[in-house]
Amino acid sequence: MTYFIATYGCQMNVHESEKIAGVLESMGYTLAEDIQKADIVVFNTCAIRESAEQKILGNIGALKPIKAKRKDMLIVVCGCMSQQEAMAGVLKEKYPFVDIVLGTHNLADLRKFIEQKIAQKKRVFAIEEQQDIAPRDAMPMVRTSGVNAWVNIMYGCNNFCTYCIVPYVRGREISRPMQDIVKEVCQLLKEGYKEITLLGQNVNSYGNGKDETFAKLLQTLDALPYKYRLKFMTSHPKDLSMEVVDVISKGKNIAKCVHLPIQSGSNKILEAMNRKYTVEHYVSIIDALREKVPGVTFSTDIIVGFPGETDEDFALTLDVVKRVQYQQVFAFMYSRRKGTVADKMDGQIPLAVKKQRLQTLLAVEKEISEKLALEHVGEVEEVLLEDVHPKLANKLMGSTVYGRAVTVQGAGRVGDFVKVKITKVKNSVLFGDIVEDEYGYFANDATLFKNKRTS
Ligand code: SAH
Ligand code: SF4
Ligand code: F3S
Repeated sequence: MTYFIATYGCQMNVHESEKIAGVLESMGYTLAEDIQKADIVVFNTCAIRESAEQKILGNIGALKPIKAKRKDMLIVVCGCMSQQEAMAGVLKEKYPFVDIVLGTHNLADLRKFIEQKIAQKKRVFAIEEQQDIAPRDAMPMVRTSGVNAWVNIMYGCNNFCTYCIVPYVRGREISRPMQDIVKEVCQLLKEGYKEITLLGQNVNSYGNGKDETFAKLLQTLDALPYKYRLKFMTSHPKDLSMEVVDVISKGKNIAKCVHLPIQSGSNKILEAMNRKYTVEHYVSIIDALREKVPGVTFSTDIIVGFPGETDEDFALTLDVVKRVQYQQVFAFMYSRRKGTVADKMDGQIPLAVKKQRLQTLLAVEKEISEKLALEHVGEVEEVLLEDVHPKLANKLMGSTVYGRAVTVQGAGRVGDFVKVKITKVKNSVLFGDIVEDEYGYFANDATLFKNKRTS
């Protein structure tokens, strides 16, 4: 019996798919070669934008003729899209070939629902309200992200940014006990993982009282006796404390690239978004990080075409992008989400205007990131080798502590830290040659971390 998982959305979902794979493998399923041959197909969905949902529904629909021929195939839809009541209704009525629909809070019972469906031959719908996180934490896992391991530190979101569906589909914030996180990270480092990425919708509000804050957690993990990269996402600017800035600056393992979503460069729009910070405050955090963490780089998320965004507001967004000099910008056209406050706001922006603003923003950012990339040429930087290159023979892919992707030439082993001399830049990707590896000799064994991927 085989399985296939189609994953959409953020890293949280990528990690949750590792848990889905863990459950399925514990039931005896093995990874299918492709979706059409699988005995069980799981769609782990995202609801962040309408385009994501349309794509997912299209992909689910494409399985209809296959399921008509293979009646025993089981189709499961879970994740953020199916947690919405209206969408669960659409799946019930218009997608009768879908067998099991689960919300985000029901994932831990996946095995029970599959067994129930097989035994009773009746469709299963389980979309419940928030539950305890302990069962989700206890799910088995099949890790799929090579040298990196994802680690949940919290679930849910309390912020209710007016455009965003996440608080409605993921429930309220719950932080994992710090000792559970430390134990998991220790185990991963012992197993040989070289990068740990802490996951939460707003990691800066991690906490269970004053002894368990995000700063404390970072500091504790950073001090573990291993050489590795410690990353985290996502940081909300309203909660990024100076204590966290201080911990980053003193860190020996913490990566020097910070993802800090600004969303807009206009205070009027930030207020309408309910982001609870001003552009000035945001820039002051950037400046503090730059001062205390030499060479630190930044990436961000930006929404263009939020209701009421004028040309002047958008120009302010371009100003802040130029001011901060982001290494990377993830830019999105505002998408109306049913049930959110912004969906009911006046001043919705026409699609053509949103498209134009998106293009303008991407063009401005392209120039910045290319310029920043060129500054590295000639430097020798420490690179973590993450994978063999999928296309270029005898080349490896890695990244610097500043979060720059590097295509590396030379004998190296996936999972090693090596010194690389940057020789050129192409499409913002650095190219370089290994000049020294951590053992002082060149090994060549790329098999270490080539574990399978779920989709
Ligand atoms: N918790 C994270 C973001 C999670 S969603 C944070 O607060 O930063 C990832 C990104 O999707 C957001 O940062 C935002 O830029 C974008 N996004 C969320 N809702 C959106 C919507 N309705 N339309 C367009 N983009 C949206
Ligand atoms: Fe959405 Fe805002 Fe929560 Fe991020 S902080 S998940 S953007 S509501
Ligand atoms: Fe999408 Fe849910 Fe993540 S809506 S972006 S998968 S939290």
